[in-house]
Amino acid sequence: MDQKTYCMIKPDAVARGLIGRIVGRFEDVGLIVERMELGVVTPEQAAANYAEHEGKPFYNGLVEYITSGPVVKMVLSGPDAVPVVRKLMGATNPKEAAPGTIRGDYGLTLDANIVHGSDSPESAEREIAIFFGQ
Ligand code: RTP
Ligand code: MG
Repeated sequence: MDQKTYCMIKPDAVARGLIGRIVGRFEDVGLIVERMELGVVTPEQAAANYAEHEGKPFYNGLVEYITSGPVVKMVLSGPDAVPVVRKLMGATNPKEAAPGTIRGDYGLTLDANIVHGSDSPESAEREIAIFFGQ
């Protein structure tokens, strides 16, 4: 089933010049880039996006990090786009992410783990509204 998902290239990856390679991973499998914008995440957007983690020990650091510099915000679409993007991203902790995945190939630490991708179609709809409106 055709789905849309929200994906974000995190600040460390943008700063390291990895935008092209990461977008290329998604295009390689045939996902369509429907929207794409470089910008800084506001504290309000960060809080809304990571509401499920509020109160956890890593929450403040997470919000600080995601607002620390420009990110690339994207809407990707295609068959099963949500799970396909999560598969291409790899495990949350780059140390456990398989080689060949984005986090496995470009990441080293849990906090600076290169990309974000919606974890369900419901999250995708919510996150697209947070970052692109509607
Ligand atoms: P994301 O939301 O960024 O796509 O990552 P995810 O679904 O794979 O992982 P999630 O559980 O939603 O965690 C969000 C981000 O919080 C950081 N984190 N730190 N110190 C910790 O135990 C811990 N756990 C998670 C990671 O940077 C993760 O991407
Ligand atoms: Mg998540």
